[in-house]
This record gives sequence, structure tokens and C-alpha cells, in this order.
Amino acid sequence: MKARIISTGYYLPERILTNKDLEKMVDTTEEWITQRTGILERRIASENEATSDMGSAAGAAALEKAGVSPGDVDTVICATITPDHLFPSTACLIQKKLKLSNAFAYDISAACSGFLYSLASAESLLKSGAAETVLVVAAEKMSSITDWKDRSTCVLFGDGAGAALLKRDDSGRGILSTYMKSDGNMGDLLIVPAGGSRMPASEKTVAGRLHYLRMQGNEVFKVAVRNMLESAQAVAEEAGIHSDEINLVIPHQANLRIIDAIAKRLKLGKDQVYVNLDRTGNTSAASIAISLAEADSQSILKEGDNIILVSFGAGFTWAGVALQW
Ligand SMILES: CC(C)(COP(=O)(O)OP(=O)(O)OC[C@H]1O[C@@H](n2cnc3c(N)ncnc32)[C@H](O)[C@@H]1OP(=O)(O)O)[C@@H](O)C(=O)NCCC(=O)NCCS
Repeated sequence: MKARIISTGYYLPERILTNKDLEKMVDTTEEWITQRTGILERRIASENEATSDMGSAAGAAALEKAGVSPGDVDTVICATITPDHLFPSTACLIQKKLKLSNAFAYDISAACSGFLYSLASAESLLKSGAAETVLVVAAEKMSSITDWKDRSTCVLFGDGAGAALLKRDDSGRGILSTYMKSDGNMGDLLIVPAGGSRMPASEKTVAGRLHYLRMQGNEVFKVAVRNMLESAQAVAEEAGIHSDEINLVIPHQANLRIIDAIAKRLKLGKDQVYVNLDRTGNTSAASIAISLAEADSQSILKEGDNIILVSFGAGFTWAGVALQW
């Protein structure tokens, strides 16, 4: 018996912010952003659009595609680091919006690894029999924690949401293996310093721009490559998938140079690696969820395909999931 993704959905906000637009906002160039990151444009949510709105749209699409009625969902997990509020959880807000009246709901905070941590949690709930139908939503309004005056970070991020609906399945398809790791020692390299109990919001924190994301990008880069590779190799090995049997790797979309480095070490061709960060930027937890749903909607994923999902994010957190589609 395995946990299987029976449908997916995604949502991207309408507004497109291009590298040319960013040239007018900070001291940067279209060329620098394209060459150093691979990002050409990203989507930005409107002022009155919050994370739960985007997450609900993605979740509704997944439910509709599967033909599952809202009352049949018993668990909602939302991966996000940009919740609508400190509490209640964004998962509870999504539950309300989608009328998932028979579900219990909770958030998972694991930054860019949030979707994979959530899939692993869903798998455990389904396999133990504690859940029958789990809606995993990964949604981020990264623009709400982006310092639009910091050129080293504001060019990187975007908004959006993806969702996956999971059920138990005895066909042999589904999640084959999962891998989750964290290292809190390097948490300061990627952090939103204020707004929590350590540094509650005050005039001083606002003046110091401490509610925005801060990242030492080049330090994060090196660890990201190493740990994403480790995750991909660990889940493939546990699932018994040899490198020449991998149909598609969907990596977290942070930087094309990171993705290329992983592809090279895993000896993967261009058509074996899903890339959309040229259009989305880094959407943190939502990144792999949006990619998976896009690949699903474009029929890139074929029944029986071996797919590896791999992530790295703040915390630090990193994870892998191997699945047979
Ligand atoms: C952020 C990132 C794109 C920066 O690329 P990089 O090649 O490491 O660049 P550096 O930070 O070393 O900066 C190089 C130079 O470019 C400059 N620079 C930074 N941002 C710039 C921008 N938007 N436009 C122009 N110049 C910029 C820096 O000031 C620095 O200038 P200096 O050499 O004069 O000091 C890259 O480090 C990265 O993608 N990191 C990993 C992010 C990640 O994986 N996150 C995962 C979890 S979200």
C-alpha cells in the first residue's frame, strides 16, 4: 500500500515583474539577473491577495481535477513561510475557503522544503490509516517579505501556489521513498529577523527593515548543491531507482546554476530536469508543487514514470521524495 498523488493544481498571480522592471527599482541589470540566476520574470500577488487565497485556488484546482468533493478531504497540510497571520494557520483558512468541513488542518514551516516535508507527513498519515484523503497545499507570498531595496535578494523571489491530493493506493504506484534533514546551525544565513517572539514588531524593527528576508546567497549556494544531491541520491537508492531509470527530476527552483550543477553530477539530460524558474523565480515552498502541477497539466508525467523531487531551504532544511507516477 502506497500514498499516491491522484491530482495536482496550481495558481500563479497575474502580474508579471520582469528583470527590466527591476532595473528601475534597484541598482541591477537584466543581464546580471539572467546570467547569475536564470530568472527572467516572476509573478507578484496583488495587494489584496494573500497566501491562503492563492493556496485555495491551487487546492480547488486539484479537487476539481480529481472529482473529489470537499467533504471527503480529511486532512489539509499547508506548507508556507508567508502565512496570512501568525495564527490561525493558513491551512485552517484554506479549509474555510474550500469548505473542507470534515478535515483537520495544520501548517508546516520548512521554507523551500515545506512541500516535500508535507508530502512525507501526508504519506505517514495515509500509511498509518490516520487519514484517507489528504490535500497538501504549498503557497507563498514571498513579495510580502521581500526587501525591495535589497538588490541581492529582491530579484530572486516570486509568488504562487501548488497543491497535491493524496490517497492510499495498492497499484504499486505512488511515493516510493522520502528523505528529510535539517541543520539549525546555519539558520542565520537565511532568515526574517523580526516579527516573532525573539524580536516582536516595533517601530525600531520596521525602521531597521528587519521584517524582510535576509540571505547570504553565496554561502547558501554551496550547501544547497551538496545537500540537494545528497537527497536525490538517498531517495533514489532507497527506492531502488538507478540513475538511468530516472524519468524526471523536479528540483527546488532557486537558481539555474544550482539546478545545472545537480543535473551534471546526476548525469541527467536537459529533458530529465524540470525548470520553470525563468518564469516564476523562487517561490519557496510552492516551487516544487507548482512545477509538479505544471508538468502534470502538460502531460510530461507519464504513468509509471520514476520522478525525484528534491529541495533545499532556510533552516537549513533539505529533502527528497521518489515517486512512481
Ligand atoms: C543569490 C545569488 C543569485 C547571488 O549570486 P552570486 O554569484 O553568489 O553573487 P554574490 O552574492 O557572490 O555577489 C556577486 C556580486 O554581485 C553583486 N550583486 C548582488 N546582487 C546583484 C544584483 N541584483 N545586480 C547586480 N549585482 C548584484 C554583489 O554585490 C557582488 O558584488 P561585489 O563582487 O562587488 O561584492 C546566489 O548566491 C544564489 O542563488 N544563492 C542560493 C540561493 C538559494 O539556493 N536559496 C535556497 C533557499 S531559498
